[in-house]
Amino acid sequence: MTRVETSAGGGVAAAVDLLRAGEVVALPTETVYGLGADATQPLACARIFEAKSRPLSDPLIVHVPDLEWARSFGEFDAVTQRLIEVFWPGPLTVVVPRRAGVPDLVTAGQDTVAMRMSAHPVFAEVVTGLGRGIAAPSANRFGRISPTDAPAVMDELGGRIPLILDAGACAHGLESTIVRVVDDQIDVLRAGPVTREMLERVAPVRRMSGGDVVTPGSMKSHYAPRTPLDVVEPEALDGLDDAARVGLILPSPEARAVAGRFGAVEVLSESGDMREMAANLYRVMRMLDAGGWDRIVALAVPTDGIGAAIMERLGKAAARE
Ligand code: TXA
Ligand code: MG
Repeated sequence: MTRVETSAGGGVAAAVDLLRAGEVVALPTETVYGLGADATQPLACARIFEAKSRPLSDPLIVHVPDLEWARSFGEFDAVTQRLIEVFWPGPLTVVVPRRAGVPDLVTAGQDTVAMRMSAHPVFAEVVTGLGRGIAAPSANRFGRISPTDAPAVMDELGGRIPLILDAGACAHGLESTIVRVVDDQIDVLRAGPVTREMLERVAPVRRMSGGDVVTPGSMKSHYAPRTPLDVVEPEALDGLDDAARVGLILPSPEARAVAGRFGAVEVLSESGDMREMAANLYRVMRMLDAGGWDRIVALAVPTDGIGAAIMERLGKAAARE
């Protein structure tokens, strides 16, 4: 049985108690819902992998209560230090050399650890209440779409976890940006809400994900709906066959004119706002996936700003292996 509670209904205290007892709990963050466990308890972390059916080779992000605690888990160079001063709390994960005492399960045995500080007020209450880091991957079964609200978590993990702390829909709707600083330059391992342009204000970005930088556990197919998904350029829309069996994802209303022959049409942002497109993407993918269409087709978006993160997720959703 999976309970759903809100912070108003005493959910924060219940979550802290469960985490202390070595249990897993689904928690809201500003990006997507996470499945959290006390990062200092290896057995609790093992439960995360079990509930998600996640391979042990895929390391976890540790969500820290404060900077001092973060320094007890990893070593921060000057550029990384500057990055966290600018972007924490918020949707930026930094990969840094680990210290002794970090459970091997958290890092998948590597010599680095990924950390971030969430800006979500409910998450902040839980992690401060616990007083320790919370290891938390996205609260979906392995390889599936990250949940951006409590019903989506229930779809993914209902019956497998004791508690979902419900705080409504996530503001960003896409996972955090993951970076690693090498020789005072930034490698982006996963594009996200903190964009290349924002990072460049702190230090040069040497590489973007998708090139030869590989995150452990970042296989090509990820964030995937069960329905086959394709990403197409606007010119290709007219030529699509069997449109009546297709669920179409449009970034903005512009292409609606040609969309009449499609089975279903979902617009990510009526005002054409890229942040709103990002925030709605997973919810819309999940909805069309449940709609029984033969195929989902998404229109490509420009790759500046958060568009890079949107296209990275669409690319992974479209990958067949
Ligand atoms: O927004 C987010 O980051 C969400 C919320 C819950 O905070 N979490 C999230 O976690 O997306 P997850 O596990 O779904 O994705 C974490 C990614 C994985 O691809 C993993 O390989 C990478 O972070 N990662 C973790 N530790 C790493 C490390 N030491 N080096 C490189 N990549 C790492
Ligand atoms: Mg994930």
